[in-house]
Amino acid sequence: MNGGKLSYRFLGGSGLKVSEICLGTMTFGERKDGLVQCSENESHAILDKFVEMGGNFIDTADIYCNGLSEEILGNWLKKNSQKRERYVIATKLRSPMSDHANGCGLSRSHIMQAVDDSLRRLRTSYIDLYQIHCWDDGVPIEETVSAMNDLVRMGKVRYVGASNVLGWQMQKIVELCRQKGYQPWVSLQQQYNLLCRQSEFEVFDVCQNEGVGVLPWSPLKGGWLSGKIRRETTSSSLDPKSRIGWASEAAGRANQAAPSYDQFANEKTWKLLDLMESIGQKHGKSVAQVALRWLLEKNVVSSVVIGVKTLKQLEENCGAAIGWKMTADEVSALDEASEYDVPYPYEMVRRLNKDRKRNKIA
Ligand SMILES: NC(=O)c1ccc[n+]([C@@H]2O[C@H](COP(=O)([O-])OP(=O)(O)OC[C@H]3O[C@@H](n4cnc5c(N)ncnc54)[C@H](OP(=O)(O)O)[C@@H]3O)[C@@H](O)[C@H]2O)c1
Repeated sequence: MNGGKLSYRFLGGSGLKVSEICLGTMTFGERKDGLVQCSENESHAILDKFVEMGGNFIDTADIYCNGLSEEILGNWLKKNSQKRERYVIATKLRSPMSDHANGCGLSRSHIMQAVDDSLRRLRTSYIDLYQIHCWDDGVPIEETVSAMNDLVRMGKVRYVGASNVLGWQMQKIVELCRQKGYQPWVSLQQQYNLLCRQSEFEVFDVCQNEGVGVLPWSPLKGGWLSGKIRRETTSSSLDPKSRIGWASEAAGRANQAAPSYDQFANEKTWKLLDLMESIGQKHGKSVAQVALRWLLEKNVVSSVVIGVKTLKQLEENCGAAIGWKMTADEVSALDEASEYDVPYPYEMVRRLNKDRKRNKIA
């Protein structure tokens, strides 16, 4: 707790302190496909308010709004250039940003180009946290890890992280850094919320064991866990300006970050939302705040990457991290209500080792 403002945690095993809430900027920049997002002025107002609430950690990616999100953030940083050192700026690379053969992916060639393009759009001389946006099967990981380490040595990047990888892939990255004497990767940005917990059964074990901090993305499952969708909600009553309304409107729009109505409108979700509401009522907190607080109660999490379109959403979401905690019983009840099928062999290994953690053996 920090006097009504956001508190800080170390990012994984590193010495870098980040606010418990990280402001995601995927909503920055007006789009041409009908999905309503924030103008530059609205985005700058959100950034100003986030900083006023104690936030220092901001996440973007080259691909968000095709570079526009980075540009909007860069223009804001320029306005605040005297304070650059106060902010931890995270961005990502891998997506196609131009149409030539080497204009995407995690090759040394694209990494060297992508970092310069991001630095230009962000109007800064260094990136605090540079993340691979997803594993790239087309490139030897040795090449990627070595190029990312070179960026640290060149001073263009301060810390390196991953996003959207499997357990063995994260472990391989950790081991390579260890063997080669590279700076360890400090974070994993992964989808994690009460409707998507599958990363718990392998990759988060790697993170826990190796000091890699988890940064959950889509913590409200695109709005499903925000409290605006309830048992009585039908697909025709959704606001078409909302992400879920937009994703539900046309076939093919739904994806991980923009889940449609049909994907989660079932009894398990309604029961989970009922429970979240009742826990929230005990603490005078909203459903969205319960969803975000549940993530903050997990040890492996360093900071939760929120996405907002309005100042009201920002204030509500930051409120999840300020001035309260959930009880262990409430966390367990939410764990149970959001339980999911664990496939073999994970289920068997987990079940047979339930009580065999080294420190539990008498
Ligand atoms: N690494 C990756 O692959 C990856 C992928 C996706 C996202 N991300 C990062 O994670 C960030 C957050 O992801 P996300 O935007 O999907 O997060 P999310 O929290 O799951 O969804 C955010 C959306 O929910 C709605 N919302 C947010 N707060 C609300 C509130 N208090 N009340 C009601 N509605 C609320 C808003 O949409 P409506 O108002 O339209 O309903 C908002 O745009 C992104 O900005 C990005 O930085 C990373």
